[in-house]
Amino acid sequence: MDVIRDNAALRRRLEASRRAGESLGLVPTMGYLHAGHLSLIAQAGRENDRVAVSIFVNPTQFGPGEDFARYPRDEARDLALCEEAGVDIVYAPEVAMLYPNGQPGTVVVPPESLTGHLCGASRPGHFTGVATVVSKLFALFQPDRAYFGLKDFQQTAVLKRMVADLCFGVDVVLVPTLREPDGLAMSSRNVYLSAEERQQALALSRALQAGWEAARRSGVSPDDVLNTARSVLAGEPALEVQYLELVDQDTLAPLETLERPGVLAVAARLGRTRLIDNVSLEGPAPLGGDRLDRLERKP
Ligand code: PAF
Repeated sequence: MDVIRDNAALRRRLEASRRAGESLGLVPTMGYLHAGHLSLIAQAGRENDRVAVSIFVNPTQFGPGEDFARYPRDEARDLALCEEAGVDIVYAPEVAMLYPNGQPGTVVVPPESLTGHLCGASRPGHFTGVATVVSKLFALFQPDRAYFGLKDFQQTAVLKRMVADLCFGVDVVLVPTLREPDGLAMSSRNVYLSAEERQQALALSRALQAGWEAARRSGVSPDDVLNTARSVLAGEPALEVQYLELVDQDTLAPLETLERPGVLAVAARLGRTRLIDNVSLEGPAPLGGDRLDRLERKP
């Protein structure tokens, strides 16, 4: 496995691979890898000749007062996990390699319709930071495919749109959220939670499960689904809910009927930790259960 910190060295390494006609799958990460990242890497390995992982805690996607400085980092452990997972290239640059002079420079601003609500409402500039760094990674790697976890559902919608609008020619592959056995969505930020908060956090996946189940009942409206999920969240007073929304999976517009594919998404603060989670109403239940197709909903 090659560990590369320099853009020129990365280009040379990729050129050799390209000359050999090898396809490339890129897994962009901010490190502190968990099983969710490893599932992206495994899928990239199945679908490409070579797999590259980037490890970069991107300062431009953190707002003032957010957790950039304390974001968990353990590069030695990440490299060992990548090696074990069969990764070919790890790109782990210093900040100055991607942001010379410490300035963002040219940025990519995704459309307000995708970023003006959900996480974007409480994290202004976050998705500009994400789109900008991912476009830099795409320009450097020119991968055939890039892999992102669906836990960051709004991010995936923003990046799919960026790839289409800026003609990147990269196939964006979305990988389902992995959960702990008790239902908590895997996240590098879960390490911040105290034992008590770790229990309280389960209200998020329970709320999504309740909403998912409500959507299967006949005659329900988006408001019924939201109210069902909201009542579960209300049962955990430690949670400071930032949003609970049911949105169109592509446009992110609030869903007006359950006839369109929808995603129920939630964000909440628990002490100093901000957690997000979501479920597609068309997909499997977050905590397991029947994989009923919408057409099979009981009348
Ligand atoms: O999802 C993440 O870990 C980050 O937002 C990403 C895509 C690596 C960009 O910094």
